[in-house]
Amino acid sequence: MNPDFQEKLLRFTLQTAREAGTILMSHYGNLQKIKQKSSAIDLVTAADVDSEKYIVNEIQSCYPAHDILTEETPVESQNSDFLWVIDPLDGTTNFVHQLPIFAVSIGLQYLGKTIVGVVFNPAVDKLFHASSGFGSFLNNKPIHSSSTITLSDSLLVTGFPYTHDNYWNHGFTLFKDIYSKTRGVRRLGAAALDFCFTAMGRFDGYWEFGLQPWDICAGALILQEAGGKVTDWDGSEFPFSGDRILATNGEIHRELEAVLSRKKT
Ligand code: IPD
Ligand code: CA
Ligand code: CA
Repeated sequence: MNPDFQEKLLRFTLQTAREAGTILMSHYGNLQKIKQKSSAIDLVTAADVDSEKYIVNEIQSCYPAHDILTEETPVESQNSDFLWVIDPLDGTTNFVHQLPIFAVSIGLQYLGKTIVGVVFNPAVDKLFHASSGFGSFLNNKPIHSSSTITLSDSLLVTGFPYTHDNYWNHGFTLFKDIYSKTRGVRRLGAAALDFCFTAMGRFDGYWEFGLQPWDICAGALILQEAGGKVTDWDGSEFPFSGDRILATNGEIHRELEAVLSRKKT
């Protein structure tokens, strides 16, 4: 990838995420209707929809030949080498409850590799970005993952999916196991920010299952570029699907991997 073009794509993504964040804030504390999706706890609002419309329109005006994968609406494939992966509002439940932990997440892949990731938390004006090979930044200042080397000194973050199946029970067994080995585990409710907070060293690691590509695409690059590591729970390459994600500062990865890859009982 030509570095000038990569830089141009990054500038476009930053600008688009900022504007989408402004759209989210225009609905914050001001929602008329909240709809349910897959279940009573899986929500969508006018903020998700308006943010998505704006981002998709921007991409289609500036890069009409590029592909787009976005949470709320299917977009027809163009068979492009470029794929934009968008969560127009990550943390919808927090947003609905006026908890300021939510974000716009936009990742861009070229030939299956993420080259740009931007996550914007507009309620507190925090803009995270990474461009592959150029490091990670929060409001244009470089960020780095923590240097904690043991689970016992670690603060972790996790999340739980909307579907409450057998795997969900297993998730709680793991939660208990991991909790007892660490300083604590938080559940913030916005996957993109879980990655970013790990990238800036607030958390030492993050794990979750049942995520989607738009939850992880931008955040994973931001953590990797900040010096962290992202894999599947068994240490293999992490799935684009977001099925099982282990994301750490790198130092505690093996220890956490050993717990997560234990057989289901
Ligand atoms: C959700 C959040 C949450 C995670 C869920 C996601 P949404 O995304 O990232 O932290 O635990 O699995 O679906 O629905 O708010 O965009
Ligand atoms: Ca999400
Ligand atoms: Ca979402």
